Order: sequence, then C-alpha cells, then structure tokens
Amino acid sequence: MSTRNTIILAAGKGTRMKSDLYKVLHQVCGKTMVDCVLTQVEKINMDNIVTVVGYGAEAVEEQLGKRSQYVLQKQQLGTGDAVKKTSPILNDLEGSTMVVSGDTPLFKADTFNKLFDYHEDSKAVATVLTSKAPNPFGYGRVIRDSEGNVNKIVEQKDASEAEKKIDEINTGVYVFDNKALFAALNMVNNDNAQGEYYLPDVIGIFKEQGKKIGAYQMDDFNESMGVNDRIALSNANKVMQRRINESHMANGVSFVNPDNTYIDFDVKIGQDTLIEAGVQIHGETEIGSHCKVGANSEIHDCKIHDNVNVISSYLQESEMLEGSDIGPYSHLRPKAFIGKNVHLGNFVEVKKAKIDEGTKVGHLTYVGNAHLGKDINVGCGVIFANYDGKNKHETNVGDASFIGSNANLIAPVNIEDHSFIAAGSTITDNVKQYDMAIARQRQTNKAGYYKKLPYNG
Ligand code: UD1
Ligand code: CA
Repeated sequence: MSTRNTIILAAGKGTRMKSDLYKVLHQVCGKTMVDCVLTQVEKINMDNIVTVVGYGAEAVEEQLGKRSQYVLQKQQLGTGDAVKKTSPILNDLEGSTMVVSGDTPLFKADTFNKLFDYHEDSKAVATVLTSKAPNPFGYGRVIRDSEGNVNKIVEQKDASEAEKKIDEINTGVYVFDNKALFAALNMVNNDNAQGEYYLPDVIGIFKEQGKKIGAYQMDDFNESMGVNDRIALSNANKVMQRRINESHMANGVSFVNPDNTYIDFDVKIGQDTLIEAGVQIHGETEIGSHCKVGANSEIHDCKIHDNVNVISSYLQESEMLEGSDIGPYSHLRPKAFIGKNVHLGNFVEVKKAKIDEGTKVGHLTYVGNAHLGKDINVGCGVIFANYDGKNKHETNVGDASFIGSNANLIAPVNIEDHSFIAAGSTITDNVKQYDMAIARQRQTNKAGYYKKLPYNG
C-alpha cells in the first residue's frame, strides 16, 4: 500500500533566537510555530505524522499531544540525522514522505498539496519546494544545471561567492520517495562547514545516482519564510497577521487599520463587526456580529455576543451578552458574566461576578465576587468590598435595587430585590425587600460658622 507521511523537524534549540524558550515554541499570532505547521499538515490526509523532538522534547510533545507521533533526536547532528531518527516508524513504508521544518510557520496546506501532487505526477524520487528570496542570506541555495535541472543544494556557510548570488532558496520542504530517502540518508556525511549531516545533501546523492529530482517553485516567498531569529519572528507575525485580518475582512468584518490590529489565529468574529485601530484580540475569543471593538481594546479568551460595544477596554476570560457595552477604560477580569443590555461605563472593574439583564454600573466602581440581578442602578464609585485580608466573600444584590453613589458593600451581604442603599453608606448588614439602608453620620450644620473662620474674620 502506498502511504503519505510527514516528518516535522523540531529538535533544534534555536540558538539564534537567544531565548530560554525552544525555538519552535515561539508563537506567531498566538500559535506556536510547530503547531502552525502541524495545523496545515493535518488538513491533508496523512498516514503518519512524525515530529522529531530533542531540545524541549517534553514541552513540544505536551503542546502537540496526540496529534503527532514522536521520535527523539538526543544530539542535534543536523537535519539529515533528525530525519533518520524516524526510520523505526517509516523506514519500510511504500509511498511518499514530506519533510518540513517546525520553524516555517507560514506554509499553507494548499502548497503542501500542490507539492505532493507535483511530486507524484512527475515520478521524481525527490521534489524540493523552492522560492525566490528577496534576501536569500542564511538559506540553502538551489543549484541548477544549464538546462534548469536541480543538481544539489548548498548551505549558506558552504556556498561559493557565485552560489551566494543565487536567489532561489531551499524552503526546507521536500517530498521524497520514502524508501529511497532512508537509503540515501545512510550515505550523507558531515564533511561541511557546520560538521552536520545535512538533509539537503540527499538531493546531490540522488543526482549522482542518476535519479530524477524535481523542484517546485512557489510564487510567494513570504509563505516559505524560515524563522531563525527574532527579526524573522516579527516578520512572520506581520505576514500571518495580514493573512488573518484579510480572512476576517473577506467574511465581512471591517478594520479601521489592519496594520496595527493584532488578532490571534483561532479568534472568530461575526459579520458587520467593526474593529478599530490598535485592537488586540487573543486566544479563544469569539465575537458576534454587529459589534464594535473600540480603539486600543485588548481581549483575551472572551465570548462576546452580537451588538456589543467595547470601548477602549481590557477584557479577560469573560462573557458579554447581546446589547451590552463597556468602557471607556474598564476591565473585565476572569469570570465576569455580563447579561443582556447591561451598561458598564468608565473605570469599572468586574471580577468573578454575574450581572443580569438591564443593570447599569456607570462609573468608577469595583464589582468582585458578586451577583447583581436585573435592572439595578449602581451609582458612581461603589465598592463591593469582597476581601477581608484572608478570604473572599459574596455580595448579592436583588433585582431593581438602587445602590447610591460611594456606597461600600462589605461582603458577605445580601441586598434583596427593590432595596434602596443611600449614597455614602457602608453596608454591613443584609437589607430586606423594599427597605432603604442608610449607614452614614448625620449631617450637622453650624449656623454662621463661615464668618468665624480666622481668615474671614
Ligand atoms: C535549513 C536548510 C536550508 C533551508 C532552510 C529553510 C539544512 C541543512 N538546511 O536551514 O537549506 O534553506 O532550512 O528554512 O537542512 N533540526 C533538528 N535537528 C537538527 C537540526 C535541526 O530537528 O539536528 C530542526 C530545527 O529544529 C529546525 C529545522 O530542523 O526546525 C531546520 O533547522 P535549522 O537549523 O533552522 O536549519 P536552517 O539553517 O534554517
Ligand atoms: Ca531554520
């Protein structure tokens, strides 16, 4: 049976990144590079996907889980050696094997598909995916003969001056006849500038054996970009960002300035939503239709329903139902659940609290560990004092209640439906339905006192 397999190379440390984090675990638009690669590979049918791990093996395996098989390359002796490590799984299989690097996050499944088709149609023993780089420095160069056939691939560090001028690069993606690949790998040596076993050397070996080698040149260099350092990482983010934003635009989302709007890979946004400049939307966030996400808002892992208006605010792990609004300059901390048509105004912080339909919290208020019912009016500067220095306690406010400005609600406290809390009160006791609670010093007026002040005398 003929199989299709993919090997993802991810064992390197990534010295050039200068990082404590292993290279392939650096993220592009919220997804680790190796996950970006795997996500595209998964879109085409594979019999085996094998990831070669070494540095950070456990972290990479944890990241990708059961989506791949793994082999360990203990010592990083080069990409040829890395591929060889997969032989216990792949060695005996009939069929084609694609090799791709874990540090090329921008490839699309469509390109992999085209490469496989091209390879299988051409009956070549190996097909290398190439592109023309505006600045080929650092990449392996594709050396062709006068008739345009590929002779070999030469690494930057081994290239002659003439070879360095070639701008057609090895993208690091190849499809091989599986059995021929493992046979040729046994013939690769490490007699080169880096003392490594280079995978691309198998191309030269096939050539010497008189076998047919194909090259498939892709149009878009950006898609083949390899990330070896932080500059390339920022370039890859830029390309991916543009791609993500354009796919949202194609789905009917408007962007004021897509060049400075940062949206992670898996974010979903509904039609006719407007995303203003400087917005960041991260993680598993889902945003409905006809919403507005105002300038410089930052949203992490939230579910925002339709017709929600977010004005310059910071939202984490929370949910906002239809018609609600927040901001400017407000903060939803984890587990805020904001009901339909709730209004949260400026400088409002909500944490682990549920606020039901139609309630208004207009200004300068902290709501923590609380449940607020429907149609409540919370005045300005109200504090839900939830923490006694050791434990957190709950506050409950019933439907249609009124909380006057500058009230402190000292939890645990229960305020029943239709209660009225006078402004400036510090509430420590429960309040019954239809009652008013007032807890503040009575005012005393001193007649004519102004005239007695020394400076007015
Ligand atoms: C490699 C290619 C180069 C190509 C470029 C495309 C080789 C020798 N060179 O160069 O022709 O233009 O990719 O981006 O293959 N890895 C291992 N084990 C190792 C060494 C590397 O698993 O022993 C992995 C790395 O984690 C990385 C990938 O292989 O994901 C490529 O290695 P890297 O060192 O980045 O190769 P480049 O210098 O970019
Ligand atoms: Ca690389």
